Amino acid sequence: MSTVVETDVLIVGSGPAGASAALALSTYGVPNIVVTRYASLADTPRAHITNQRTMEVLRDLGVEQEVVAQATPQHLMGNTTFCTSLAGEELGRVRSWGNDPLVQAEHELASPTRMCDMPQHLMEPVLVNAAVARGTRLRFETEYLSHTQDADGVTATVRDRLRGDTYEIRAKYLIGADGGRSKVAADAGLPMGGQMGVAGSINIVFEADLAKYTAHRPSTLYWVLAPGATVGGIGAGLVRCVRPWTEWLIVWGYDVTAGAPDLTTEYAESVVRKLVGDDDIPVTIKSSSAWTVNEMYAERYANGRVFCAGDAVHRHPPSNGLGSNTSVQDAYNLAWKLKLVLDGTAHPRLLDSYTAERAPIGRQVVTRANQSIRETAPVFEALDGLSPQTPEQLWANITARKDSTEAAGKQRAELREAIAFKAYEFNAHGVDLNQRYASGAIVPDGTPDPGFARDPELHHQPSTRPGARLPHAWITSGSRTLSTLDTVGRGRFTLLTGIGGEDWVRAASAQDLPVATVVIGPGQEYEDPYGDWARLSEISDAGALLVRPDGFVAFRHASAAPDAGELLADALRTVLGHA
Ligand code: FDA
Repeated sequence: MSTVVETDVLIVGSGPAGASAALALSTYGVPNIVVTRYASLADTPRAHITNQRTMEVLRDLGVEQEVVAQATPQHLMGNTTFCTSLAGEELGRVRSWGNDPLVQAEHELASPTRMCDMPQHLMEPVLVNAAVARGTRLRFETEYLSHTQDADGVTATVRDRLRGDTYEIRAKYLIGADGGRSKVAADAGLPMGGQMGVAGSINIVFEADLAKYTAHRPSTLYWVLAPGATVGGIGAGLVRCVRPWTEWLIVWGYDVTAGAPDLTTEYAESVVRKLVGDDDIPVTIKSSSAWTVNEMYAERYANGRVFCAGDAVHRHPPSNGLGSNTSVQDAYNLAWKLKLVLDGTAHPRLLDSYTAERAPIGRQVVTRANQSIRETAPVFEALDGLSPQTPEQLWANITARKDSTEAAGKQRAELREAIAFKAYEFNAHGVDLNQRYASGAIVPDGTPDPGFARDPELHHQPSTRPGARLPHAWITSGSRTLSTLDTVGRGRFTLLTGIGGEDWVRAASAQDLPVATVVIGPGQEYEDPYGDWARLSEISDAGALLVRPDGFVAFRHASAAPDAGELLADALRTVLGHA
């Protein structure tokens, strides 16, 4: 072991968390190296639901259009179907992922982006290619083994799995984005709450032309209530579309106390046949793998110069489709802070805000995803299908709902209600977008927390209160229509004001670090022809919002201020950890 390679940030892992961290850091000009254990990026679809907040992050990082071009679009995602098999009886549907007209309106009002379905094996190359093109140095087949840290940096020992030798990488910071079995998080001693291995699950990836069962009710997810479907797993059997309508992934449970079944091709085919329900359709099994449902989150995301992101710090089932979304958003939260600390603009104290802001989100996501599994049980309960689970009993109960009796009518109503309640998994727009941060990198403005007027899990509620994400509004600049979110980001702070906000504009240009200014109003660089921004901004025209590089409001002042220079300088000092 002789060579020592040096960089600013060493990232372990090239999944959604590591790849996004690399992309953001390279976009901001921070030297970084990614080491990743295997010879390739993800070779199975894994995570796929890509929510609006993640699409906003990708928009800022310049890869949104590439993702849109490859993803299954939102309108093909949304007929979440409950059935006895794809070929069998349909029990009901939920208009999902923003495809309910009412929810769709909320999506359109909330963001310039659209949700889409981007399987992980397609997403990772987009992120990694862009990162490498912008400067990331990537080493495949390189395994993180251990690290030590001192006052100036972190020294990680890695093994080149091709040559078999080890070497050291010296970095100023280490990001552990090494997934659900994170060795970096364990080595850093990050305290974890919750439990691993709550239930057993199997993923089976296969090819089959299932258009005749799916194209008329296009969806990302088809839930199958078959005997045995409540054993382990994620609430029911699941047929998930990878590519319409020929590539699929089945999720099927197993009893975790008995251990995973032998994943032979015959076993995989038997599960596929059970869930598809048509033995005549040719099926090609691509892969099968066992995994466990976890309910675990880190209470702290960092130890000194070591930061963890993604599944390394929140481990949960795929329900609500939050896995890679939260991972991308962790990385985005961390990257600009590292950049500003590394270039000397910010005090290292700024990095404390990473745990303060992201750990509560991670915990919420873990809880929500596991709760969504439990909320599938009422669908079975409505059919009296939890126990006993003989096929005959379940089919008899399913058939009984068609009777013209009072009991059958009650059963139909219960089933409708149980299926509709799954909106908390398939239309949880608030979970996606209502993130509010409280940390040293947010300057409270003294206003009381407005809370949420509607269910905060289902409905997005925009706010400009410090700690909230800047609300989206369509504004114009000449003939161009753009989102307020398009005026912020790109690694820099932005000050938004309006007519009468000249003191704020002057204050912004007088700061030591670059603060972009956006003036919105008639005759200004940006105009608000629909009045949307005026309705959402919660400040007067002459007031100001200071928005962080990640699009979150850091500071708000409701009106003009003759001492704007001082107020803004104080706010920036606080946010940057110098106060
Ligand atoms: P991720 O696990 O994606 O990446 C970890 C990275 O670290 C990998 O590149 C790995 O090679 C690398 N690594 C690990 N240890 C290392 C070491 N010691 N040295 C170097 N590199 C190391 N989610 C969902 O929403 N729907 C789904 O259907 C599924 N299905 C699914 C299937 C399987 C098999 C897995 C493993 C995971 C899922 N998930 C999922 C979860 C989803 O994939 C997950 O939430 C995100 O990938 C998390 O992204 P991360 O980047 O944090 O970890």
